[in-house]
Amino acid sequence: MNIKGTHYRSVWPVGEDGFGIIDQTKLPHAFVTLTIKSADEAAHAIKSMQTRGAPLIGAVGAYGLALAVREGASDDAINTALEMLAATRPTAINLKWALWRMRGALLNQPHGKRVALAWSEAGKIADEDVAMSQAIGFNGLKIIEKLAEGKKGNPVNILTHCNAGWLATVDYGTALAPIYMAHDAGIKLHVWVDETRPRNQGAALTAFELGSHGVPHAILVDNAGGHVMQAGQVDMVIVGTDRVTANGDVANKIGTYLKALAAKDNNIPFYVALPSSTIDWTLESGRDIPIEERSPDEVLKMSGRLPDGSVTMVEIAAPGSGAANPGFDVTPARLVTGFITERGTCAATPEGLRSLFPEGR
Ligand code: MRU
Repeated sequence: MNIKGTHYRSVWPVGEDGFGIIDQTKLPHAFVTLTIKSADEAAHAIKSMQTRGAPLIGAVGAYGLALAVREGASDDAINTALEMLAATRPTAINLKWALWRMRGALLNQPHGKRVALAWSEAGKIADEDVAMSQAIGFNGLKIIEKLAEGKKGNPVNILTHCNAGWLATVDYGTALAPIYMAHDAGIKLHVWVDETRPRNQGAALTAFELGSHGVPHAILVDNAGGHVMQAGQVDMVIVGTDRVTANGDVANKIGTYLKALAAKDNNIPFYVALPSSTIDWTLESGRDIPIEERSPDEVLKMSGRLPDGSVTMVEIAAPGSGAANPGFDVTPARLVTGFITERGTCAATPEGLRSLFPEGR
């Protein structure tokens, strides 16, 4: 990720005292970084969505646990911190995956070595996430190249939902990694960015990323996706995911399911890009995925920048009305054209997943 000439990752170690993150609640109006110095601060950053996106909260959770080990290296202390961090967000499996991997690397090791081991394992999780995102980009690029062949020099139109770019991973992204690679390879692209109410990850984060990288794009209100698909203005959909179950069902940001239905009705390929840390082999189907319910305030209020440059929150609903705010939905595997993973592309079926990840189950 390149912000005004400086290379960043979305999480990075700061000496041995803490780790840095980009405060995503301030984007796109301000680019602010934070240093996280305790496991409690890490939990707060994940819960408040200063840091977010399934692969990224896995890496942040790992660094958070490393900070917890500095505060107490016993098995009990590690288990308590793990539970506290895991409870911050329920839907993305990457968080639990990373925390359990950290636990496995620490328990049964001498207490005196645990701080160094924890720091090193968190670093490995972050580095591996970058490598997986790069490989997803390369594998997805092949699909975009094929579509570009049929476009006779016209741009390939890609629709994406929420933010599954470098801000949602340690670097590069999942759904956006193939887009960046295709753009860098000189393929003409145009990206439809779903606004992604209620938190506007599309309008605020994906548009910020694509703009920083020079990728042509336009923001669409969430309800417009079906219309542009019917109008022949979408060649492909690529989204990320927070959890894929053993049968190929996909949990992702609320609204993804409706885009998958519209894509199916219009014969538009609907791809889901994911690192293997997003596969939950223990769940048979998406019915069992816990769906995060967030504050009604996210629906009833909205933040934005005033002409004087200050950012403020305004009420947008009829006073006294309540709201429901499910953060994710489940797209059934039958609506998914394929998975783009670090090991290649496969069908959204148990057999497809097993063909790439035979060790999974
Ligand atoms: O609630 P968020 O912003 O953390 O949700 C993020 C998404 O739904 C992303 O699409 C998903 O995590 C995949 S990120 C590579």
